[in-house]
Amino acid sequence: MKKINGDFFNKSIVSVDQFSKADIEILFELAAEYKKGISNGMVFNDLNGKILTALFYEPSSRTIGSFLGAMQRLGGGIIPIHGILNTSVVKGEILTDTINIFQSYSDVIAIRHPEAGAAEIAAKAAYIPVINAGDGTGEHPTQGLLDLFTILEKLQRTNNLKVAIVGDLKYGRTAHSLSKLISIYPKNTLYFISPPQSPMPDEVVKIVKKNGAVVKTAKSIEEVLKTIDVLYMTRVQKERMEEEVYEKMKNSFILTGKMARAMKKDSLIMHPLPRVGEITMDVDSNPRAMYLKHQMRNGMFIRMALLRLVLKK
Ligand code: CP
Repeated sequence: MKKINGDFFNKSIVSVDQFSKADIEILFELAAEYKKGISNGMVFNDLNGKILTALFYEPSSRTIGSFLGAMQRLGGGIIPIHGILNTSVVKGEILTDTINIFQSYSDVIAIRHPEAGAAEIAAKAAYIPVINAGDGTGEHPTQGLLDLFTILEKLQRTNNLKVAIVGDLKYGRTAHSLSKLISIYPKNTLYFISPPQSPMPDEVVKIVKKNGAVVKTAKSIEEVLKTIDVLYMTRVQKERMEEEVYEKMKNSFILTGKMARAMKKDSLIMHPLPRVGEITMDVDSNPRAMYLKHQMRNGMFIRMALLRLVLKK
């Protein structure tokens, strides 16, 4: 897909690979402006008259909710397609035809789809911007961006970080997007911690190394717990594997309150959510925990900024 190169207008956003540091800066600056404004009770009308189709072939709570919230916070309209059971997809309609329908009714499409690469296919078929809201085991760029925004906001830097990414790294699309984003900043070390059945895909490892990050692996969270700046937990993607494999992989890595308390004082505990047992509930009140409040809320501001930038010069 086309690099953003300082100009988001009318571009589809399929992968974090499209972003340079300067593009991220533009996005984060606007997201921070919206965050400040909304927190002060401001009302925005930047996208008055524009319509977003949220076309979600897979379940979602946060991503669809924050995309729809973002569009309405900017004064825009929404066509929410939350699940395809009541659409003509069940009659056999192909993806590109579905895209064609919704681009006739709206100005931007956010798509979530079970197949990696589907967002790119949709983007190539569309004359309006398409935003990847998670494509199977591929990427989840807006999640990676909100994660990075949260890291910058809380630690005041995106470089010189030690970040452990934990869980089902083969299938976890948020892990792919965040790892690639972290790797474009200098002096960052990524620790990949996964069950042996589900390592970080070679193509992602290749990209993050090429970008300049140091890549290490560890067998347990405890190995790195006291030295890392960010602990990014992810769930095992049950829906992408056989039940038998899931049973072996689930509960491979669990962060407890006691472990969380042993982390560096100014470190962060993150999770894209939903969690299914990887973080025990006694971690929630730890000041390092970012997943319930900060990441979630930042997701809306990042999506507001992205919608605004792709829809208006
Ligand atoms: N983080 C995330 O993508 O959550 P949802 O699946 O609920 O959208």
